[in-house]
This record gives sequence, C-alpha cells and structure tokens, in this order.
Amino acid sequence: MERSAKSEQYSYFRSIPFLFDYPKNFSLKDGRKVMVRPMLPSDVDELYAFFANLDREDKLFLRDDVSDISVIKRWAENLNYDIVLPLLAFYDGKVVADGTLHASNFLWTRHVAEIRIAVSKDFRGVGLAKKIISELFFIAIKRGFKKVIAQIPFHQQNVIHIFDSLGFEKEAILRKHIMIQGKGFSDLLIMSAFVGNAIQQLKRVS
Ligand SMILES: CC(C)(COP(=O)(O)OP(=O)(O)OC[C@H]1O[C@@H](n2cnc3c(N)ncnc32)[C@H](O)[C@@H]1OP(=O)(O)O)[C@@H](O)C(=O)NCCC(=O)NCCS
Repeated sequence: MERSAKSEQYSYFRSIPFLFDYPKNFSLKDGRKVMVRPMLPSDVDELYAFFANLDREDKLFLRDDVSDISVIKRWAENLNYDIVLPLLAFYDGKVVADGTLHASNFLWTRHVAEIRIAVSKDFRGVGLAKKIISELFFIAIKRGFKKVIAQIPFHQQNVIHIFDSLGFEKEAILRKHIMIQGKGFSDLLIMSAFVGNAIQQLKRVS
C-alpha cells in the first residue's frame, strides 16, 4: 500500500480514544523491532499467510476455519473494533502475531472481555505474546470492561505464566473441555482479572 494511503488509514486510529496512539513500535528480547496496530481491511493477505504458517494445534482455539481466505475477507469487511479488536504485530511487512479482544455477546456478561493470542513460530519466546496481551488488557481497561478472561489449555504453562505475570488468577477448570486430534481430551483453564483490582495494584506500584 502507498505510504500516503497508509498514513490516512492510521489517522483513523487517532479518532478512536482507546486506539489513538497506534501504530506503536516495540523492541523484542532478541533486539528485533515490531510494529503493532489494529487490523485494517487491507491486511487480508498478510493475515492469511500468518495463519497458514501456524500448526494445526496452534489454531484450535480459533472459532473459524482460517485456511479459507474468504473467512479472513469476511472479518476484514465486517471489522468492528467494539465487538472484536484484532491487534496485529508486523515485522518486515509480515504479520507475526495476532491478539484479539472479544466483547461478550450476551447482555448479562457485557462487562466481560476475552483475550486470545497467537504468535508465529519464528517470534516465540521473545516477549511478543506478553506485549500484545498487556496492550489488549490496557485497552480493555480503557474501554470500561470490568473483567477480562482468557481460555487456556491446561498444559500451556507458558500462556498461564504470561497471564499470571499480568495479574490474572486461575478461576476455573473445565474438565476434558478440549479435544486435540491424536492427543485426546485436555482440561481448559479460565484465568481472569478484575479491572478494579488491577487499577488498585497499579496505584500501589506507582
Ligand atoms: C502461546 C504463545 C502465544 C506464546 O507466545 P510467545 O510470544 O512465545 O510468548 P512470550 O515470549 O511473550 O512469553 C512466554 C513466557 O512463557 C515463559 N515460559 C516458556 N515456557 C514455560 C513453561 N514451560 N512454564 C512456564 N513458563 C514458561 C517464558 O519464560 C516467557 O515468560 P517471561 O517473559 O517472563 O520470560 C505462542 O506459543 C502461540 O502462538 N501458541 C499457539 C496459539 C495459542 O496456543 N494461543 C494461546 C491460546 S489463548
């Protein structure tokens, strides 16, 4: 995309109070620098390529079949950051991580948001997931959600470690809730953070 067209699209973020400071640049633990910003309609091909490089197990937590490009096109056509906010990380023009903040569909849980994350294999272990999850958590706070949750396969100690380090607590275990082809059932852990508690903690630290 032309530079001017891009900056025009980026100026759109400035009109949204909780997104005004995107795109942002971050340095990873290995020195590589990534640019993070909300998904735009023009990201279809890059997002499709990102999902194509993930293992089948890595995609299990997604609700849609991302091997079908029309699914990603539909996301792009129906982008509504109030319902699903996809935050993408780019390296060298390529998508290397996709984190999403999902607002609840139900009226009685409208104060709850959920975070999901996937990072490309070449960019794991260098702090990218933690960076994007903390960005999404702060956006959730700014948007006024009262509770933020994550659904994590119980064996994924790295994901549990990330959410734990951001102040999330283990709230529930749903037994044999996940089925992984060739590996059988796995428990699903729900971790959650109450925004009121997180703000209190921040006040104590600062
Ligand atoms: C899970 C996933 C997002 C992690 O991404 P990542 O960028 O490698 O994560 P980070 O580098 O930010 O953090 C990993 C953390 O786990 C820690 N960790 C790694 N292995 C661990 C283990 N066995 N036990 C505890 N902690 C572990 C690392 O030390 C690091 O913590 P630190 O920053 O405090 O050192 C990535 O592997 C992925 O995309 N998986 C497929 C999709 C998925 O499963 N998503 C989760 C569903 S919500």
